Amino acid sequence: MRDESTPGTEVAGSVEKRYDPLAVLISGRGSNLKALIDARLTTPISVVISNRADAAGLEHARAAGIETLVLSHRDHASRDAYDRVLVDALRARGVGLVCLAGFMRLLGPTFCDAFRMATVNIHPSLLPAFPGVDAQAQAVVHGVKVAGATVHFVTPDLDAGPIISQRAVAVEDDDTPETLAARILAVEHALYPDTVRRLLTESWTVHGRRVVFARPA
Ligand code: GAR
Repeated sequence: MRDESTPGTEVAGSVEKRYDPLAVLISGRGSNLKALIDARLTTPISVVISNRADAAGLEHARAAGIETLVLSHRDHASRDAYDRVLVDALRARGVGLVCLAGFMRLLGPTFCDAFRMATVNIHPSLLPAFPGVDAQAQAVVHGVKVAGATVHFVTPDLDAGPIISQRAVAVEDDDTPETLAARILAVEHALYPDTVRRLLTESWTVHGRRVVFARPA
C-alpha cells in the first residue's frame, strides 16, 4: 500500500504539462460525464470507457460524438489484468488525464502508478468522511449537519487520495438519502468541471497530501 503522506512526495502540474486529451470512466447514469461534456473544456474528451455495456451514460458520449468503449471487468481474471487493459486503451489514445465519474471499480497499483496524479474522482461526501458506496445514506444515518462533494486524486486506497477541491451542502432535518443525494449531485455538476478546468489551466503542486494551486480559487 502506498503512503501518499510520505514527506517529499511532490508532483507539479501546470499548463506546461500536457493533460490532453481527457478520458472519462463511468459505470452508470453518467450525469457527471454530461456535466464535463457540457462544460466545453478546452481539452477534448477523446474516449468514454464503461465497465458496463448497459451504462446509460454511454448515450451522453454518443450524442456528443465521443468514442465509447465497453471494457467489462468480468472479462478479466484479476484486478491487475483489468488495470492493464484500461491502461493500454488509454495509452493507445494518448490520454493525459483520467476522470472517474461514477466508475464503481477499485483501481489497483498498476493503474494508479501509470496515471499517478493524473486520475481524478468525484465522491459525494466531504472526505475522509463516508468513503465507499452510499455515501449520502451514510451521512444521513450518521446525523451529520454538513455533507458535500470532494474531487480527489485516485490512489489504490479507496477514496483516500489527495483532496483537490470540496464543496459543502447543508443536511436538512427531513432529508432522506435521496433528497440529500439530489442536492449534492447538483453541486457535483458544478464542482467537477470547475476543478478539472483548474487542473488543466493552472499551476499546482502536491506536497505530501496537500494539493496547492498557485493562485486561490
Ligand atoms: C455520483 O454521485 C458520484 O459522486 C458517485 O456516483 C454518482 C455517479 O452519478 N461516485 C461515487 O460514489 C464514487 N465513490 P453519475 O453516474 O450520474 O455521474
